[in-house]
Amino acid sequence: MSDPTGPEEATYARALDSVRAGGDLDAAAELLLAELTPDERLGLLDGDEPFWPGMLDMVGVGYNLEPIVAGAVPRLGIPGVRFADGPRGAVIGHSTAFPVPMARGATWDPDLEERVGEAIGAEIRAQGGNFFGGVCINLLRHPAWGRAQETYGEEPLLLGAMGVALARGAQRHVMACVKHFAANSMENARFTVDVQVDEATLHEVFLPHFRAVVQAGVASVMSSYNSVNGDWCGQNTTLLTDVLREEWGFEGFVMSDFIWGLRDPVASLPAGLDIEMPFAQQRAQTLAKALEAGDACWVDVDTACRRILRTQLGTAATILPSIAAGPEVVVSAEHRALAREVAARSMVLLRNEPVDGQPVLPLTASQLGRLAVVGRLADVAQTGDRGSSDVRTPSIVTPLAGLRAALPGVEIVTTDVDRLSDLDQEARAAAAAAVAAEADAAVIVVGYTFEHEGEYIGSFDPELARLYPPADDPSALDVLARVWDDGPQAVGGDRASLRLPPEDEALIRAVAEVNPRTVVVVVAGATVVMEDWRHDVAGVLIAWYAGMEGGAALADVLLGTRDPGGRLPFTVPVTEADLPRFDRDATTVTYDRWYGQRLLDRNGTAAAYPLGFGLGYTSFTVGDVVAVADRDHTALDVQAVERNTGPRAGGHVVQVYVTRPELGDRYLVGFQRVELDPGQSVRVELTIPLQRLASRRGPQQWEVRPGAYLLDVGSNAADPNAVTVQLDLP
Ligand code: BGC
Repeated sequence: MSDPTGPEEATYARALDSVRAGGDLDAAAELLLAELTPDERLGLLDGDEPFWPGMLDMVGVGYNLEPIVAGAVPRLGIPGVRFADGPRGAVIGHSTAFPVPMARGATWDPDLEERVGEAIGAEIRAQGGNFFGGVCINLLRHPAWGRAQETYGEEPLLLGAMGVALARGAQRHVMACVKHFAANSMENARFTVDVQVDEATLHEVFLPHFRAVVQAGVASVMSSYNSVNGDWCGQNTTLLTDVLREEWGFEGFVMSDFIWGLRDPVASLPAGLDIEMPFAQQRAQTLAKALEAGDACWVDVDTACRRILRTQLGTAATILPSIAAGPEVVVSAEHRALAREVAARSMVLLRNEPVDGQPVLPLTASQLGRLAVVGRLADVAQTGDRGSSDVRTPSIVTPLAGLRAALPGVEIVTTDVDRLSDLDQEARAAAAAAVAAEADAAVIVVGYTFEHEGEYIGSFDPELARLYPPADDPSALDVLARVWDDGPQAVGGDRASLRLPPEDEALIRAVAEVNPRTVVVVVAGATVVMEDWRHDVAGVLIAWYAGMEGGAALADVLLGTRDPGGRLPFTVPVTEADLPRFDRDATTVTYDRWYGQRLLDRNGTAAAYPLGFGLGYTSFTVGDVVAVADRDHTALDVQAVERNTGPRAGGHVVQVYVTRPELGDRYLVGFQRVELDPGQSVRVELTIPLQRLASRRGPQQWEVRPGAYLLDVGSNAADPNAVTVQLDLP
């Protein structure tokens, strides 16, 4: 216990002790608030660093090197929020890089995700942060979205379950923030685009996952850059107050997305935005004057301060000092092992055709004399894009390194990348084929890098520069513009194509022609249209951006040490034309409920690989399905028996899709992952709240329409063996 008669700097510690001892949280926050001067209160409402030095450092020196602080009050010992980004790991310091969230979404395993959250939270805490900004759950409306890798997939239920798990794990050590609220599913135009969406679609499709994470107790919400129905999200009263607080009961604090997240700093306060991040920027210029003039009121300032202090205290009080989080947790052996386990669990085997009577995978080490490992990305060390989620991880196992380490007795042959870079596409494909022709099997690693997809800032934009405060040094803006345009800000962004680069496709065709045991490993953050080559090769595996241990995990999966555990968290269409239109330069876009698998289902179009699809090295059946509405009609109980009918242990995800009457939309309403030994079976029981079937009739009005609901219980969204049950709801 701290000394209650101690100096001023112990004020926060005393408040914390009182909450830990069971004292009232609101009262403790109120006492703390009463100690703050008016300036200190205003200081809570934006980042602590002055704009210009902060901005020039960010662009010139580097980003995310250490926590970004908002609202520290050293006089009273208030730490402030100490933000560290994610989600692929802790971006500060040199931390563990996990597979990107889209990979983790493919595990369909919230328990595993919770362990990832706990590891990231511990690493942030160990490095001076108290706030994890990486619970990204925006819906994958279109796979061209540059930041697709940062989220978990296309279905709200999966997004919500994984977001809840990540936040829950992280909040054992730090506060967590869910983002980007809301409807942020395109990148290049994110600072300016207006998303038009009707009430029902917004609440049934684009918000349920946010509601789930909020109601599970996340500490904070980050507003998005875009506007929704004409109102910028950082000052959107409907979203930040009516929905978030009044309807969902959110009690934490809201922060803006960084630098360009609001246009009207004074109006943002009563709208429900608590902190402008990450600098003292627009509010620092305007709020004090507005208060003086009567255009803003102290009641709103205090409301925001209360939320910030209360959340800080409340979370800190639940963090057990006894759970170790010293420097030794950062990239610990345990976290590395977790990164490897998650990577293997996430890899999705899409195709595994027999060669000489045996599926091409797993490769049998004892039968391999020589293995060709080729393709542009075979020896590229990468963990994803170079935006705000980039983790400066101390080491990365590439696919080639992982296979070499796993196959000491096998001759691994590859192409000399340095020499090849001078050659043209055809010559490179021919060189790979020459190597593959002499090998017992060929692994081709192709796909994307940060240059093809990722977060995007773009070139210096004078329009957005209007949001910057005047600088003391009149040349500061020019300096910024120059440093900016010299930097790497214009790479990544929304994908220009959903196909592999043409040189990758050429190489695949050349290698497949000479080696029947060809396996293509695809590195990407979301859907790749594979129609031009997938039938030509025996094996296709999506490996994602697989984290620092990705190459080791890839070897585990290719050699069968581990089952490829992933199932697609989105649909892979036959052609781009099966998806909604995507204009990365749009100034306005209308979001309806038809996208991904939902759109394919409505149109009766078959996917190349449907949502939820993935093969393993064993086989499963789903049977004995029973589905009933419970007595008080609040939930459906669905039961099914899953059986491992194959020769090995493995994982399986049972999935439940509903087709609703009237609208006829079809989507995921339940899932459960199980791990079973050969011959083992288990009865899975799912409780599906009827809310998942409900239609939004108007603000705060939901209705489960009467009629016949079809439930398909199976292994993916287009499983021919799925069992269909009809439920007539009154
Ligand atoms: C991104 C956020 C991120 C923030 C801070 C923004 O540009 O949109 O996701 O948390 O930067 O790094």
